[in-house]
Amino acid sequence: MQTRNLIAGRWTDIGSGGAIDVADPASGEVIARVPMCGASEALSALNCAFEFQPEWEATPITQRADVLRATAAMVVARKDSLARIITQECGKPLAEAASEVQYSADYFSSAAQEIQALNEMEVSLERPGLRGVVRHRAVGVCAAITPWNFPLAMLARKVAPALAAGCAQLAKPAQETPLSAFALAEILLECGLPPQCLHVLIGDAKAIATTWLMDGRVRKLSFTGSTETGRLLLRQCAPEIVRCSMELGGHAAFIVLQDADIELAVKGAVQSKFRNAGQTCICPNRFLVHESIASEFAARVAVAAAQLKIAPGLDAGCQIGPLIHDAAVEKVRAHVADALARGAKLICGGRTKEIPDRPDRFFEPTVIANCDPSMLCFEEETFGPVIPIMSVASEIQAIEIANSSPFGLAGYVFGGNDASARGVAQQLQCGVIGVNEAAPSNARAPFGGVKYSGYGREGGAWGLMEYVTTQYLALRSLEK
Ligand code: SIN
Repeated sequence: MQTRNLIAGRWTDIGSGGAIDVADPASGEVIARVPMCGASEALSALNCAFEFQPEWEATPITQRADVLRATAAMVVARKDSLARIITQECGKPLAEAASEVQYSADYFSSAAQEIQALNEMEVSLERPGLRGVVRHRAVGVCAAITPWNFPLAMLARKVAPALAAGCAQLAKPAQETPLSAFALAEILLECGLPPQCLHVLIGDAKAIATTWLMDGRVRKLSFTGSTETGRLLLRQCAPEIVRCSMELGGHAAFIVLQDADIELAVKGAVQSKFRNAGQTCICPNRFLVHESIASEFAARVAVAAAQLKIAPGLDAGCQIGPLIHDAAVEKVRAHVADALARGAKLICGGRTKEIPDRPDRFFEPTVIANCDPSMLCFEEETFGPVIPIMSVASEIQAIEIANSSPFGLAGYVFGGNDASARGVAQQLQCGVIGVNEAAPSNARAPFGGVKYSGYGREGGAWGLMEYVTTQYLALRSLEK
Protein backbone atom coordinates (compact mmCIF):
# COMPACT_ATOMS: atom_id res chain seq x y z
CA MET A 1 0.00 0.00 0.00
CA GLN A 2 1.46 3.35 -1.05
CA THR A 3 1.63 5.82 1.86
CA ARG A 4 3.77 8.62 0.43
CA ASN A 5 3.00 11.76 -1.50
CA LEU A 6 3.64 11.92 -5.23
CA ILE A 7 5.51 15.08 -6.12
CA ALA A 8 7.40 15.85 -9.32
CA GLY A 9 7.50 12.21 -10.35
CA ARG A 10 8.75 10.86 -7.02
CA TRP A 11 7.05 9.11 -4.14
CA THR A 12 8.44 11.07 -1.25
CA ASP A 13 8.68 10.83 2.52
CA ILE A 14 9.47 14.51 2.81
CA GLY A 15 6.76 16.45 4.58
CA SER A 16 7.49 19.91 5.93
CA GLY A 17 4.33 19.65 8.03
CA GLY A 18 5.30 16.46 9.92
CA ALA A 19 3.12 13.38 9.47
CA ILE A 20 -0.43 12.28 10.12
CA ASP A 21 -1.99 8.99 11.14
CA VAL A 22 -4.66 7.50 8.90
CA ALA A 23 -7.09 5.56 11.07
CA ASP A 24 -9.79 3.01 10.28
CA PRO A 25 -13.06 4.60 11.46
CA ALA A 26 -14.44 1.16 12.33
CA SER A 27 -11.68 0.30 14.79
CA GLY A 28 -9.76 3.50 15.48
CA GLU A 29 -6.61 1.57 14.53
CA VAL A 30 -3.88 3.43 12.69
CA ILE A 31 -3.45 1.86 9.25
CA ALA A 32 -0.81 4.22 7.87
CA ARG A 33 1.27 7.26 8.65
CA VAL A 34 1.52 9.80 5.85
CA PRO A 35 3.86 12.80 5.51
CA MET A 36 2.07 16.16 5.62
CA CYS A 37 3.08 18.66 2.95
CA GLY A 38 3.09 22.41 3.15
CA ALA A 39 3.73 25.36 0.86
CA SER A 40 7.21 24.26 -0.26
CA GLU A 41 6.07 20.85 -1.51
CA ALA A 42 3.00 22.43 -3.11
CA LEU A 43 5.28 24.79 -4.98
CA SER A 44 7.62 22.00 -6.19
CA ALA A 45 4.61 20.12 -7.52
CA LEU A 46 3.29 23.22 -9.26
CA ASN A 47 6.67 24.06 -10.83
CA CYS A 48 6.92 20.57 -12.26
CA ALA A 49 3.31 20.47 -13.49
CA PHE A 50 3.63 23.88 -15.12
CA GLU A 51 6.84 22.97 -16.89
CA PHE A 52 5.34 19.76 -18.27
CA GLN A 53 1.94 21.23 -19.17
CA PRO A 54 2.77 22.11 -22.83
CA GLU A 55 4.15 18.63 -23.49
CA TRP A 56 1.08 16.86 -22.13
CA GLU A 57 -1.22 19.20 -24.00
CA ALA A 58 0.69 18.44 -27.21
CA THR A 59 0.52 14.67 -26.63
CA PRO A 60 -1.82 13.18 -29.25
CA ILE A 61 -5.36 12.70 -28.00
CA THR A 62 -5.30 9.00 -28.86
CA GLN A 63 -2.25 8.54 -26.66
CA ARG A 64 -3.88 10.36 -23.74
CA ALA A 65 -7.06 8.35 -24.24
CA ASP A 66 -5.06 5.10 -24.26
CA VAL A 67 -3.61 5.93 -20.83
CA LEU A 68 -7.12 6.57 -19.50
CA ARG A 69 -8.53 3.36 -20.97
CA ALA A 70 -5.67 1.33 -19.55
CA THR A 71 -6.28 3.00 -16.19
CA ALA A 72 -9.97 2.11 -16.28
CA ALA A 73 -9.08 -1.52 -16.98
CA MET A 74 -6.46 -1.68 -14.24
CA VAL A 75 -8.79 -0.04 -11.68
CA VAL A 76 -11.34 -2.78 -12.41
CA ALA A 77 -8.66 -5.48 -12.28
CA ARG A 78 -7.65 -4.25 -8.82
CA LYS A 79 -11.22 -3.89 -7.59
CA ASP A 80 -10.77 -6.06 -4.51
CA SER A 81 -7.65 -4.39 -3.18
CA LEU A 82 -8.91 -0.87 -3.96
CA ALA A 83 -12.24 -1.61 -2.28
CA ARG A 84 -10.45 -2.79 0.85
CA ILE A 85 -8.42 0.41 0.99
CA ILE A 86 -11.57 2.53 0.60
CA THR A 87 -13.39 0.61 3.34
CA GLN A 88 -10.44 0.71 5.68
CA GLU A 89 -9.94 4.44 5.45
CA CYS A 90 -13.52 5.72 5.13
CA GLY A 91 -15.56 2.95 6.74
CA LYS A 92 -18.15 2.22 4.05
CA PRO A 93 -19.31 -1.37 3.50
CA LEU A 94 -17.03 -3.39 1.23
CA ALA A 95 -19.79 -3.96 -1.35
CA GLU A 96 -20.31 -0.20 -1.63
CA ALA A 97 -16.57 0.34 -1.90
CA ALA A 98 -16.49 -2.15 -4.79
CA SER A 99 -19.23 -0.14 -6.54
CA GLU A 100 -17.19 3.00 -5.98
CA VAL A 101 -14.22 1.33 -7.68
CA GLN A 102 -16.34 0.54 -10.75
CA TYR A 103 -17.78 4.08 -10.68
CA SER A 104 -14.21 5.45 -10.64
CA ALA A 105 -13.15 3.29 -13.58
CA ASP A 106 -16.18 4.56 -15.52
CA TYR A 107 -14.91 8.15 -15.21
CA PHE A 108 -11.71 7.11 -17.00
CA SER A 109 -13.45 5.28 -19.84
CA SER A 110 -15.96 8.08 -20.22
CA ALA A 111 -13.26 10.78 -20.36
CA ALA A 112 -11.33 8.78 -22.96
CA GLN A 113 -14.44 8.48 -25.10
CA GLU A 114 -15.45 12.14 -24.74
CA ILE A 115 -12.06 13.61 -25.62
CA GLN A 116 -12.01 11.56 -28.81
CA ALA A 117 -15.48 12.81 -29.68
CA LEU A 118 -14.63 16.48 -29.13
CA ASN A 119 -14.19 17.76 -32.65
CA GLU A 120 -13.47 21.10 -34.24
CA MET A 121 -16.62 22.80 -35.48
CA GLU A 122 -17.31 25.12 -38.36
CA VAL A 123 -19.49 28.17 -37.71
CA SER A 124 -21.31 29.79 -40.58
CA LEU A 125 -20.24 33.45 -40.44
CA GLU A 126 -22.26 34.57 -43.44
CA ARG A 127 -19.38 36.73 -44.64
CA PRO A 128 -17.79 35.96 -47.98
CA GLY A 129 -14.29 34.50 -47.82
CA LEU A 130 -14.37 34.05 -44.05
CA ARG A 131 -14.53 30.68 -42.27
CA GLY A 132 -15.33 30.32 -38.58
CA VAL A 133 -13.65 27.46 -36.75
CA VAL A 134 -14.26 26.59 -33.11
CA ARG A 135 -11.79 24.36 -31.34
CA HIS A 136 -10.82 23.49 -27.79
CA ARG A 137 -7.64 23.87 -25.81
CA ALA A 138 -6.66 22.53 -22.39
CA VAL A 139 -7.26 25.13 -19.67
CA GLY A 140 -3.76 24.55 -18.25
CA VAL A 141 -2.57 23.25 -14.90
CA CYS A 142 -5.52 22.20 -12.71
CA ALA A 143 -5.95 21.71 -8.98
CA ALA A 144 -8.36 19.22 -7.39
CA ILE A 145 -9.40 19.19 -3.74
CA THR A 146 -11.38 16.09 -2.85
CA PRO A 147 -13.38 14.78 0.14
CA TRP A 148 -13.22 11.64 2.27
CA ASN A 149 -16.66 10.18 1.52
CA PHE A 150 -15.78 8.86 -1.97
CA PRO A 151 -11.98 8.88 -1.75
CA LEU A 152 -11.43 7.18 -5.11
CA ALA A 153 -14.39 8.30 -7.21
CA MET A 154 -14.24 12.00 -6.39
CA LEU A 155 -10.60 12.11 -7.45
CA ALA A 156 -11.27 10.00 -10.56
CA ARG A 157 -14.06 12.31 -11.70
CA LYS A 158 -11.66 15.27 -11.64
CA VAL A 159 -8.38 13.68 -12.74
CA ALA A 160 -9.85 11.74 -15.69
CA PRO A 161 -11.30 14.70 -17.64
CA ALA A 162 -8.36 16.94 -16.72
CA LEU A 163 -5.84 14.47 -18.12
CA ALA A 164 -8.05 13.74 -21.12
CA ALA A 165 -8.20 17.44 -21.96
CA GLY A 166 -4.42 17.72 -21.73
CA CYS A 167 -4.12 19.36 -18.32
CA ALA A 168 -1.47 18.53 -15.74
CA GLN A 169 -3.19 17.84 -12.43
CA LEU A 170 -2.36 18.80 -8.84
CA ALA A 171 -4.45 16.96 -6.26
CA LYS A 172 -5.02 17.38 -2.54
CA PRO A 173 -7.21 14.57 -1.21
CA ALA A 174 -8.76 14.70 2.26
CA GLN A 175 -6.26 13.84 4.96
CA GLU A 176 -8.64 11.24 6.44
CA THR A 177 -8.44 9.21 3.21
CA PRO A 178 -5.18 9.64 1.30
CA LEU A 179 -4.53 5.96 0.55
CA SER A 180 -7.13 5.49 -2.17
CA ALA A 181 -5.72 8.54 -3.94
CA PHE A 182 -2.17 7.21 -3.76
CA ALA A 183 -3.35 3.84 -5.07
CA LEU A 184 -5.04 5.54 -8.03
CA ALA A 185 -1.93 7.59 -8.79
CA GLU A 186 0.14 4.38 -8.77
CA ILE A 187 -2.19 2.84 -11.33
CA LEU A 188 -2.04 5.89 -13.57
CA LEU A 189 1.76 5.81 -13.55
CA GLU A 190 1.77 2.07 -14.27
CA CYS A 191 -0.55 2.74 -17.20
CA GLY A 192 1.93 5.12 -18.78
CA LEU A 193 0.97 8.55 -17.44
CA PRO A 194 4.08 10.72 -17.46
CA PRO A 195 4.83 11.31 -13.77
CA GLN A 196 5.10 15.08 -14.19
CA CYS A 197 1.39 15.12 -15.06
CA LEU A 198 0.00 14.18 -11.66
CA HIS A 199 0.98 15.29 -8.16
CA VAL A 200 -0.87 14.02 -5.09
CA LEU A 201 -0.22 15.80 -1.80
CA ILE A 202 -1.69 15.43 1.66
CA GLY A 203 -1.08 18.28 4.03
CA ASP A 204 -1.93 21.68 5.35
CA ALA A 205 -5.00 22.51 3.28
CA LYS A 206 -4.66 26.26 3.67
CA ALA A 207 -0.96 26.39 2.76
CA ILE A 208 -1.40 24.10 -0.24
CA ALA A 209 -4.51 25.84 -1.59
CA THR A 210 -2.99 29.30 -1.14
CA THR A 211 0.22 28.27 -2.90
CA TRP A 212 -1.66 26.84 -5.86
CA LEU A 213 -4.51 29.30 -6.23
CA MET A 214 -2.70 32.59 -5.68
CA ASP A 215 0.23 31.74 -7.96
CA GLY A 216 -1.31 32.53 -11.33
CA ARG A 217 -0.10 29.37 -13.05
CA VAL A 218 -2.98 27.18 -11.85
CA ARG A 219 -5.85 27.92 -14.24
CA LYS A 220 -8.62 25.77 -12.81
CA LEU A 221 -9.83 24.46 -9.46
CA SER A 222 -12.30 21.63 -8.99
CA PHE A 223 -13.48 21.28 -5.41
CA THR A 224 -15.84 18.86 -3.71
CA GLY A 225 -16.62 19.71 -0.11
CA SER A 226 -18.57 22.05 2.11
CA THR A 227 -20.17 25.30 0.99
CA GLU A 228 -18.24 27.15 3.66
CA THR A 229 -14.85 25.95 2.39
CA GLY A 230 -16.01 26.49 -1.18
CA ARG A 231 -16.61 30.17 -0.43
CA LEU A 232 -13.10 30.55 1.03
CA LEU A 233 -11.57 28.89 -2.03
CA LEU A 234 -13.58 31.06 -4.40
CA ARG A 235 -12.17 34.16 -2.70
CA GLN A 236 -8.67 32.77 -3.19
CA CYS A 237 -9.42 32.11 -6.85
CA ALA A 238 -10.65 35.66 -7.50
CA PRO A 239 -7.36 37.58 -7.84
CA GLU A 240 -5.95 35.28 -10.54
CA ILE A 241 -9.39 34.62 -12.09
CA VAL A 242 -8.95 30.88 -11.62
CA ARG A 243 -11.76 28.99 -13.27
CA CYS A 244 -13.76 26.88 -10.78
CA SER A 245 -16.09 23.92 -10.51
CA MET A 246 -17.64 23.69 -7.08
CA GLU A 247 -19.53 20.61 -5.89
CA LEU A 248 -20.67 21.80 -2.48
CA GLY A 249 -23.13 20.73 0.18
CA GLY A 250 -26.44 19.13 -0.68
CA HIS A 251 -29.77 18.89 1.09
CA ALA A 252 -31.85 16.72 -1.19
CA ALA A 253 -35.60 16.48 -0.93
CA PHE A 254 -37.24 13.08 -1.48
CA ILE A 255 -40.81 13.63 -2.61
CA VAL A 256 -43.34 10.80 -2.50
CA LEU A 257 -46.49 11.68 -4.43
CA GLN A 258 -49.95 10.43 -3.50
CA ASP A 259 -50.03 7.90 -6.34
CA ALA A 260 -46.49 6.55 -5.75
CA ASP A 261 -45.67 2.87 -5.71
CA ILE A 262 -44.94 2.76 -1.97
CA GLU A 263 -42.80 -0.35 -2.15
CA LEU A 264 -40.56 1.26 -4.77
CA ALA A 265 -40.39 4.51 -2.77
CA VAL A 266 -39.47 2.65 0.43
CA LYS A 267 -36.77 0.70 -1.38
CA GLY A 268 -35.50 3.92 -2.93
CA ALA A 269 -35.45 5.73 0.41
CA VAL A 270 -33.42 2.97 2.04
CA GLN A 271 -31.02 2.70 -0.89
CA SER A 272 -30.37 6.42 -1.31
CA LYS A 273 -30.37 7.43 2.34
CA PHE A 274 -28.31 4.67 3.89
CA ARG A 275 -25.60 4.54 1.20
CA ASN A 276 -22.32 5.24 3.00
CA ALA A 277 -24.37 5.56 6.23
CA GLY A 278 -25.93 8.74 4.91
CA GLN A 279 -22.58 10.39 4.21
CA THR A 280 -23.07 11.38 0.59
CA CYS A 281 -23.81 14.82 -0.82
CA ILE A 282 -26.80 13.52 -2.78
CA CYS A 283 -28.40 11.65 0.13
CA PRO A 284 -32.00 12.68 0.65
CA ASN A 285 -32.34 14.72 3.84
CA ARG A 286 -35.91 15.95 3.71
CA PHE A 287 -38.62 13.37 3.03
CA LEU A 288 -41.81 15.08 1.85
CA VAL A 289 -44.51 12.45 1.71
CA HIS A 290 -48.16 12.92 0.78
CA GLU A 291 -50.26 12.93 3.95
CA SER A 292 -52.44 10.06 2.75
CA ILE A 293 -49.47 7.65 2.76
CA ALA A 294 -46.99 9.24 5.18
CA SER A 295 -47.66 6.87 8.13
CA GLU A 296 -47.54 3.77 5.97
CA PHE A 297 -44.32 5.01 4.32
CA ALA A 298 -42.70 5.69 7.72
CA ALA A 299 -43.71 2.28 9.10
CA ARG A 300 -42.46 0.41 6.05
CA VAL A 301 -39.15 2.30 5.90
CA ALA A 302 -38.64 1.48 9.60
CA VAL A 303 -39.20 -2.23 8.93
CA ALA A 304 -36.70 -2.16 6.06
CA ALA A 305 -34.19 -0.12 8.11
CA ALA A 306 -34.34 -2.57 11.00
CA GLN A 307 -33.17 -5.36 8.68
CA LEU A 308 -29.95 -3.59 7.69
CA LYS A 309 -26.78 -5.11 9.07
CA ILE A 310 -24.74 -2.58 11.06
CA ALA A 311 -21.13 -3.69 11.28
CA PRO A 312 -17.54 -2.78 10.43
CA GLY A 313 -17.34 -2.29 6.67
CA LEU A 314 -15.08 -5.31 6.10
CA ASP A 315 -17.52 -7.72 7.80
CA ALA A 316 -19.44 -9.96 5.43
CA GLY A 317 -22.89 -8.61 4.64
CA CYS A 318 -22.30 -5.21 6.28
CA GLN A 319 -24.82 -2.62 5.03
CA ILE A 320 -24.19 0.25 7.43
CA GLY A 321 -20.66 0.99 8.59
CA PRO A 322 -19.34 3.53 11.06
CA LEU A 323 -19.54 7.29 10.65
CA ILE A 324 -16.21 8.83 9.74
CA HIS A 325 -15.40 10.29 13.16
CA ASP A 326 -16.83 11.20 16.56
CA ALA A 327 -17.80 14.73 15.51
CA ALA A 328 -19.99 13.22 12.77
CA VAL A 329 -21.79 11.10 15.39
CA GLU A 330 -22.35 14.16 17.58
CA LYS A 331 -23.89 16.07 14.67
CA VAL A 332 -26.35 13.25 13.95
CA ARG A 333 -27.25 13.00 17.64
CA ALA A 334 -27.84 16.77 17.78
CA HIS A 335 -30.13 16.67 14.73
CA VAL A 336 -32.20 13.82 16.17
CA ALA A 337 -32.44 15.47 19.61
CA ASP A 338 -33.47 18.80 18.08
CA ALA A 339 -36.20 17.17 15.99
CA LEU A 340 -37.59 15.24 18.97
CA ALA A 341 -37.51 18.35 21.17
CA ARG A 342 -39.56 20.17 18.52
CA GLY A 343 -42.27 17.53 18.37
CA ALA A 344 -41.05 14.89 15.93
CA LYS A 345 -41.82 11.23 16.63
CA LEU A 346 -39.06 8.63 16.72
CA ILE A 347 -40.13 5.59 14.71
CA CYS A 348 -36.85 3.67 14.96
CA GLY A 349 -33.14 4.08 15.71
CA GLY A 350 -32.05 7.38 17.20
CA ARG A 351 -28.88 6.13 18.85
CA THR A 352 -25.63 4.34 18.22
CA LYS A 353 -25.36 0.57 18.27
CA GLU A 354 -22.82 -0.83 20.66
CA ILE A 355 -20.34 -3.20 19.03
CA PRO A 356 -17.82 -4.75 21.46
CA ASP A 357 -14.27 -3.36 21.17
CA ARG A 358 -15.31 -0.87 18.51
CA PRO A 359 -15.60 2.93 18.74
CA ASP A 360 -19.06 4.38 19.39
CA ARG A 361 -19.59 5.42 15.74
CA PHE A 362 -22.19 2.98 14.42
CA PHE A 363 -25.37 5.02 14.21
CA GLU A 364 -28.56 3.01 13.83
CA PRO A 365 -30.69 3.71 10.77
CA THR A 366 -33.19 6.19 12.13
CA VAL A 367 -36.68 7.20 11.03
CA ILE A 368 -38.42 10.26 12.48
CA ALA A 369 -41.97 11.28 11.59
CA ASN A 370 -43.93 14.54 12.09
CA CYS A 371 -40.98 16.66 11.03
CA ASP A 372 -41.28 20.24 9.83
CA PRO A 373 -39.01 22.90 8.33
CA SER A 374 -38.30 24.52 11.73
CA MET A 375 -36.06 21.55 12.62
CA LEU A 376 -32.29 21.51 12.22
CA CYS A 377 -32.48 18.36 10.08
CA PHE A 378 -34.59 20.30 7.56
CA GLU A 379 -32.17 23.22 7.58
CA GLU A 380 -28.80 21.56 6.99
CA GLU A 381 -27.31 18.25 5.85
CA THR A 382 -27.28 15.64 8.62
CA PHE A 383 -24.64 13.50 6.87
CA GLY A 384 -25.81 10.45 8.76
CA PRO A 385 -28.39 7.67 8.51
CA VAL A 386 -31.51 9.63 9.44
CA ILE A 387 -34.81 9.77 7.52
CA PRO A 388 -36.88 12.76 8.71
CA ILE A 389 -40.41 12.65 7.27
CA MET A 390 -42.81 15.54 6.85
CA SER A 391 -46.40 15.01 5.64
CA VAL A 392 -47.41 17.33 2.83
CA ALA A 393 -50.89 18.09 1.54
CA SER A 394 -50.05 18.65 -2.13
CA GLU A 395 -47.42 18.56 -4.86
CA ILE A 396 -47.27 22.34 -4.71
CA GLN A 397 -46.43 22.28 -1.01
CA ALA A 398 -43.77 19.61 -1.58
CA ILE A 399 -42.16 21.64 -4.37
CA GLU A 400 -42.26 24.83 -2.30
CA ILE A 401 -40.56 23.21 0.68
CA ALA A 402 -38.02 21.41 -1.49
CA ASN A 403 -37.07 24.68 -3.20
CA SER A 404 -37.02 26.72 0.02
CA SER A 405 -33.52 25.41 0.80
CA PRO A 406 -30.56 27.49 -0.39
CA PHE A 407 -28.95 24.18 -1.43
CA GLY A 408 -29.73 22.51 -4.74
CA LEU A 409 -27.62 19.49 -5.55
CA ALA A 410 -29.98 16.53 -5.87
CA GLY A 411 -33.64 15.63 -5.55
CA TYR A 412 -35.89 12.59 -5.84
CA VAL A 413 -39.50 12.21 -6.93
CA PHE A 414 -41.48 8.99 -6.58
CA GLY A 415 -44.86 8.99 -8.28
CA GLY A 416 -47.15 6.53 -10.09
CA ASN A 417 -47.49 8.50 -13.30
CA ASP A 418 -44.36 9.10 -15.40
CA ALA A 419 -45.49 12.43 -16.82
CA SER A 420 -46.63 13.98 -13.57
CA ALA A 421 -43.60 12.71 -11.60
CA ARG A 422 -41.36 14.21 -14.26
CA GLY A 423 -43.41 17.41 -14.14
CA VAL A 424 -42.71 17.73 -10.41
CA ALA A 425 -39.03 16.87 -10.90
CA GLN A 426 -38.58 19.60 -13.49
CA GLN A 427 -39.77 22.21 -11.00
CA LEU A 428 -37.09 21.32 -8.46
CA GLN A 429 -34.20 23.74 -8.18
CA CYS A 430 -31.38 21.21 -8.26
CA GLY A 431 -28.93 19.68 -10.70
CA VAL A 432 -29.46 15.92 -10.35
CA ILE A 433 -32.89 14.33 -9.97
CA GLY A 434 -33.96 10.71 -9.67
CA VAL A 435 -37.51 10.07 -10.88
CA ASN A 436 -38.60 6.74 -9.41
CA GLU A 437 -34.85 6.12 -9.23
CA ALA A 438 -32.72 6.19 -6.10
CA ALA A 439 -29.24 6.07 -7.65
CA PRO A 440 -29.07 8.73 -10.37
CA SER A 441 -25.27 9.20 -10.37
CA ASN A 442 -23.50 7.95 -13.47
CA ALA A 443 -20.03 8.75 -14.77
CA ARG A 444 -21.51 9.43 -18.23
CA ALA A 445 -24.08 11.96 -17.01
CA PRO A 446 -23.66 15.49 -15.62
CA PHE A 447 -23.33 15.80 -11.84
CA GLY A 448 -23.46 19.13 -10.02
CA GLY A 449 -25.74 21.61 -8.34
CA VAL A 450 -27.19 25.09 -8.23
CA LYS A 451 -27.41 27.80 -5.53
CA TYR A 452 -25.29 27.00 -2.44
CA SER A 453 -24.53 23.57 -3.88
CA GLY A 454 -22.17 25.16 -6.35
CA TYR A 455 -21.75 25.18 -10.10
CA GLY A 456 -19.98 23.34 -12.85
CA ARG A 457 -20.66 19.75 -13.86
CA GLU A 458 -18.66 16.55 -13.57
CA GLY A 459 -19.09 13.43 -15.67
CA GLY A 460 -19.45 12.71 -19.38
CA ALA A 461 -19.07 15.44 -21.98
CA TRP A 462 -20.10 18.09 -19.43
CA GLY A 463 -17.26 17.16 -17.11
CA LEU A 464 -14.76 17.34 -19.95
CA MET A 465 -15.92 20.80 -21.03
CA GLU A 466 -14.89 22.15 -17.61
CA TYR A 467 -11.26 21.45 -18.54
CA VAL A 468 -11.15 23.07 -21.97
CA THR A 469 -11.36 26.61 -23.21
CA THR A 470 -13.16 27.34 -26.43
CA GLN A 471 -11.07 29.02 -29.10
CA TYR A 472 -12.68 30.66 -32.13
CA LEU A 473 -10.72 31.34 -35.29
CA ALA A 474 -12.04 33.68 -37.98
CA LEU A 475 -10.03 32.42 -40.97
CA ARG A 476 -9.56 34.38 -44.12
CA SER A 477 -7.51 32.38 -46.56
CA LEU A 478 -5.07 34.20 -48.80
CA GLU A 479 -4.60 31.17 -51.02
CA LYS A 480 -6.11 31.51 -54.45
C1 SIN B 1 -20.98 12.90 -3.32
O1 SIN B 1 -21.43 12.51 -2.27
O2 SIN B 1 -20.48 14.02 -3.44
C2 SIN B 1 -20.94 12.02 -4.54
C3 SIN B 1 -22.08 11.13 -4.66
C4 SIN B 1 -22.19 10.49 -6.02
O3 SIN B 1 -21.37 10.73 -6.90
O4 SIN B 1 -23.15 9.75 -6.19
